[in-house]
Amino acid sequence: MQVITEPREMQAIAEKLRLNRQLLGVVMTMGALHEGHLSLVKLAQKTAGIVIMTIFVNPRQFAPNEDLDRYPRPFEQDVALARAAGVDYLFAPEAGSIYPENFQTTLQCGALAERFDGEHRPGHFNGVATVVTKLLNITKPHLAVFGQKDAQQLAIIRRMVEDLNMEVTILEAPIVREESGLAVSSRNIYLSSEEHNSATVLYRSICHAEKRISEGENNLQAIAEEIAEMIQLTPGCRTEYACFVDEKTFEREVTAEKGKEYRLLLAVYAGNVRLIDNAKFLT
Ligand code: PAJ
Repeated sequence: MQVITEPREMQAIAEKLRLNRQLLGVVMTMGALHEGHLSLVKLAQKTAGIVIMTIFVNPRQFAPNEDLDRYPRPFEQDVALARAAGVDYLFAPEAGSIYPENFQTTLQCGALAERFDGEHRPGHFNGVATVVTKLLNITKPHLAVFGQKDAQQLAIIRRMVEDLNMEVTILEAPIVREESGLAVSSRNIYLSSEEHNSATVLYRSICHAEKRISEGENNLQAIAEEIAEMIQLTPGCRTEYACFVDEKTFEREVTAEKGKEYRLLLAVYAGNVRLIDNAKFLT
């Protein structure tokens, strides 16, 4: 596995691989690699001949009050994990080479980016869209894999690729969970053992929704309220949002129609740690 830090060098390598008719897949991450990230690599390897991983903690997607400075950066461990997973090229640039001093062009996402995480994390998705575009231009992949764990991010990236005629196929990977049901995340290391216990309420909420919908309940608002109550009764937990949206538009939905797809979106604080999770339902 070759580690590359300079955008120009990465572009030159990617261009050469493309000319040699290699099928390139990219997996973008902010590092602190875990099973979730590695499952994306596996999915990329099923189709792509060459897998490029990027590790970049993107300052532009963190709001001023967020955890940019304390975001975990176990770089040596990440290199070892990426190598063991069979990643071919690891692109890990410095912030200064992605955002040099005179940098000023950014992407502006639409309405999809203003709700839910966009409402609670102002500027977040514009920062994500900008860096994803830059990383696509630098790694020149045929396909890029993103996790369903960040369902709104995935929907926004799909929208952007379509809106801007970007020539890349987006693949999505299912959520990897711990045995407890908690979705694996780089931020889980911030949880104390009590908070970790409490945090399983996210998965329990998804199971509750599954049960209620399979019983034939079509009042999504009522299910969301039951979930908010479950969360409120869990020690140290606070709901930021818990609601159902139309799978295609991410518009909030209160009543389910038969045969339509909905997604339950959850953002919950366990102590000071903000966790997100989601699940798709066919009614
Ligand atoms: P990061 O949080 O490091 O996640 C990188 C990728 O891994 C994303 O596509 C995310 O959805 C996926 N992922 C994280 N946890 C997962 C899990 N438990 N199961 C499956 N997939 C999981 O998302 C970002 O970084 C950044 O916003 C990025 C796209 C790299 C842009 O900076």
